[in-house]
Amino acid sequence: MVTKDESERGSTEQLAEAASSVAQGAAKVAKGVADTVRDAVGGITIPGAPGSEPPTVEEPNEPCEPLPSKPDQRAPRPGSATGKDLPSAPDDIRSQAGAHLTTAQGMRLAETDHSLTAGPRGPVLLQDHHLREKIMHFDHERIPERVVHARGTGAHGRFRSYGTAGNITRAAFLNGETETPVFVRFSTVVGFRGSADTVRDTRGFAVKFYTSEGNFDLVSNNIPVFFIQDAIKFPDVVHAVKPEPAREIPQAQSAHDTFWDFVSLHTEAQHHTMWNMSGRGIPYSFRTLEGFGVHTFRLVAADGGTTLVKFFWKPVLGAHSLVWEEAQLINGVDPDFHRRDLYDAIEAGAHPEWELGVQTFPDTEDQTFEGIDLLDPTKLVPEELAPVQRIGRLTLDAAPTNFFAEVEQVAFHPGHLVPGIDVTNDPLLQGRLFSYLDTQLTRLGGPNFPQIPVNRPHVPVNDMFRDGFHQHAVHTGNAPYKPNTVDGGCPFAVGAEGGGYVEVPERVEGAKERRAPASFADHFTQPRLFWMSMSPVEQQQIVNAYTFELGKCYEQVIKERQLVCLANIDPVLCQKVAQGLGLPVPEPTIPPVEVQPSPALSQIGGTWPVDGRRIGIIADEASDLEGVRELRQAVHAAGMTPLVIAPHGGMLGQESGDPFPVQRSFVTARSVEFDAVLVAGAPAPAPPTTPASDAKASGGDALTEATEAVVDPRVTLLLTEMFRHAKAIGAWGDGAATLVQAGVEGPGVVVADSATAALSQVQELLGAHRVWDRFPPADAMQGGRP
Ligand code: HEM
Repeated sequence: MVTKDESERGSTEQLAEAASSVAQGAAKVAKGVADTVRDAVGGITIPGAPGSEPPTVEEPNEPCEPLPSKPDQRAPRPGSATGKDLPSAPDDIRSQAGAHLTTAQGMRLAETDHSLTAGPRGPVLLQDHHLREKIMHFDHERIPERVVHARGTGAHGRFRSYGTAGNITRAAFLNGETETPVFVRFSTVVGFRGSADTVRDTRGFAVKFYTSEGNFDLVSNNIPVFFIQDAIKFPDVVHAVKPEPAREIPQAQSAHDTFWDFVSLHTEAQHHTMWNMSGRGIPYSFRTLEGFGVHTFRLVAADGGTTLVKFFWKPVLGAHSLVWEEAQLINGVDPDFHRRDLYDAIEAGAHPEWELGVQTFPDTEDQTFEGIDLLDPTKLVPEELAPVQRIGRLTLDAAPTNFFAEVEQVAFHPGHLVPGIDVTNDPLLQGRLFSYLDTQLTRLGGPNFPQIPVNRPHVPVNDMFRDGFHQHAVHTGNAPYKPNTVDGGCPFAVGAEGGGYVEVPERVEGAKERRAPASFADHFTQPRLFWMSMSPVEQQQIVNAYTFELGKCYEQVIKERQLVCLANIDPVLCQKVAQGLGLPVPEPTIPPVEVQPSPALSQIGGTWPVDGRRIGIIADEASDLEGVRELRQAVHAAGMTPLVIAPHGGMLGQESGDPFPVQRSFVTARSVEFDAVLVAGAPAPAPPTTPASDAKASGGDALTEATEAVVDPRVTLLLTEMFRHAKAIGAWGDGAATLVQAGVEGPGVVVADSATAALSQVQELLGAHRVWDRFPPADAMQGGRP
C-alpha cells in the first residue's frame, strides 16, 4: 500500500523531473542561438547583460564560488573601517565567498527550500533556526529611504584637477594635476525610492571626493537656485511638494494643489519654479546634467587669501532635456530610463564627463557682486558677468558592484570639507550643515555610517569616537580622550601648517533676530531674467509646463494666485498661461523690470558630441541587411549603440549565414528609447491576429488607416512619435517608402543612397540634440534671444 506521504513525495519527484525535462528541451532549442545573441556579433556588444557569465538553461549542479562582477563594475576601495589602505586586498574582499550555501554563521546547509515541519503537512517547528534566521534577515532588509532625494543612481569615477585653482585654494585635490577617486549620486528630489526617473523635478548631483586630506562632498543640484532662502522653511517646501498627506498622491509630481499653494504664497520660490518648468525639470540624461553648488563657498589659498566662489559641473556632452510627452511616455515604458542610460553608457565605454568650474568673486565686506547678494540662494550670477573658469574634469567609469551597499548607503554632507574650502553665512547652507548628519543617523541606523565602505575616507581616521551600533573598527589604545598621557597624548591636533582645518576667522556680530536682509526681498527680477534668456522654443515649453501643472490643480484660487506671480514676471508668459487655463489675465502687483538676458542659460543653439546615443535601426528579413550590417558597425565606430528593431526577436539574416541579433521587437520597442532612427526597409503589416497580443499593431492611428497601411502600424507609431519629439530620422532603399507611408517628412528627415550616408546626416542632426526647427513656430513670445 502507498501511504499519503509516499504518494506526495512521488508527485514532488515527478514535478522535479518534469521541470528538468522542460529545461533540457529548452536547452536544445536555445543552444547556439543564445550564445550567438549574447556574443559580440561583429565585435558589437550591446550593454545590459545581467551577469558576468551567460546563464545556462538548465539549473547548474556543480558548486562554484560567486561569479566576479562585470568589467564595468567597481566596488568601494578595500580600505579598513578607519581608512587604512589594504593594498593587497582584492576588490571583492567584502563579497560573499565559498561555493556552498551556509547560514550567517558559516555552517553549511543541506536544504533551504522547505521549513522544518512535523511531517509534510504538519506545523512548522519552532526549532527551525535556519528558517528563523533567514526570515529575520529578510524582514529587515529595508532601511528608511532618504526623506528627500530618495530615488537615486550612483557611479564611481575619478576627478583630475587642471591645477588652475592653485592660486585660490590650498585644497590638495585642486592643486597640480592631482587625480582623486570619486563616487557620484544623481537623484530626483520628490519621488519615493521606486518612483520613475523622468518626472518633472529638480535633480541632485552629489559628488564625494576621496581626497588625500579627507572626504570632500560637493552636494549640488541641477538648478543653480533654490526654493527657499532660509533652511527653516525646508520642511515646509518639502511637505508642500511631497504627495498630499490625506491620500498620498500624486507620486513624484509637483502638479498638485499643495505645491502651487505654497510657491504662490511664498514668492521667493518663483525663480526655482521657473527653472523647474523649463527643460531643466525634465533632463534628457544624467550624462547631460549641468550641476550647480548653488551656495557661495569661500576658498582659502595657501597664503590665507580668500575668494568667494560658486561651483558648476559642465557636462562635456552638453546640457539637454526631454520634451514633456516623451518624459511622460518614458515614465511608463521605462521608469529606470536615466539609471539604465548611465549604466549602459559606462558599460559601452562612453564614460560620462564633466568639467568642474568656478565663478569667482572678491570676498568683500558686503558679499555682493554687481548688486547680486551672494548669500541669497535664490539668485544666480549670469555667466556673462562672471565667466565660469574650468578647474578639473570628472569622469565616471564604473557602475557600483552592489546598489544597496554603495548607492543606498552613501552619505553626503555639505559639511564634509577639506582645508582650502570653507562655508559662507548663506542661511540655507547653514541649515544644511546641521541637517545631513542628523537625518543619516536615523537612515543608516546609528552613528557609525562613516565606516560603511562607500563612505570610508581614503586616509587614516583617528577621531576618538567609540562604540555605537554597527561598530566595525577594533580600536587599540586605552585613552580615547584628550588630553591624555595613557596613550602617549595621541592623537595630536595640528594647525594649518600640518594640514589641519582652520576656519576662516570671519568677524561676526549682530542682534539676535528672525529676519532676512532687505536684499533678499526681490523675488521676481531673476525669474524674469531666466524667462527673457530663453529661445522661443524654450519659452513655449515653459508656458506649456505652467499650463499643465496649474491645470492639474483643483482649486481655482491657487491658479489665480500663481497667475499674479507670473504677471509680476512677464505679461506674455502670464497671458499665455492664463489663456491655457481659461482664466482672466491678472494685473501685476509688482511691475516687471528691465533685465539684461543671459544667453548662457539657454540649452539650444550649440552642437555637442554624440557618445553613447542610441540609434534604432528598423529592419525585417526583406530589408537591405547588408546595409544594416554596415550601419551597425558604423554606429558602433562612432561611439553610439546600434539597436536593431524587427518584427520579431532573435536574429535577422539567418539565411545569409551571417546573422545579427535583434535588440527590440515591434512588441517591445517604443520611440522614446531611441535618439534617432534609421529605416532599412518597409516591414509589412503584422497578420490580422497580432492586435490580440499587441494593441499597437491595430493601426488605430488615423493616418495609417487613411493610407491603407502597407507598413506595420507599430513602425508608423514609432516614426510619428519620433517626429513629434523632434528627433532625427533617416532612411535608405525601401526605407524611404516607409517614411512616406508614415507621413513623416520635414526638417530633420533625411533619405540617402546608402546606410552610412544616412547615418552621417543623422549624426550631424543629433549633435544639436533635436531638430529644433520641427517645433511649430511659437507666436510672439517675448524673449531676449532669437
Ligand atoms: C535647507 C535646505 C536643505 C535641507 C535641510 C536639505 C536636506 C536634505 C536631506 C535630509 C537629504 C537626505 C540626505 C540623506 O538621507 O543622506 C538631502 C539630500 C540631498 N540634498 Fe539637500 N537639503 C537642503 C537643500 C539642498 C540644496 C540647496 C541642495 C543643492 C545645492 C541639496 C542637495 C541635496 C542632494 C544632492 C541630496 C542627495 C544626496 C544623495 O544623493 O545622497 N539640498 N538633503
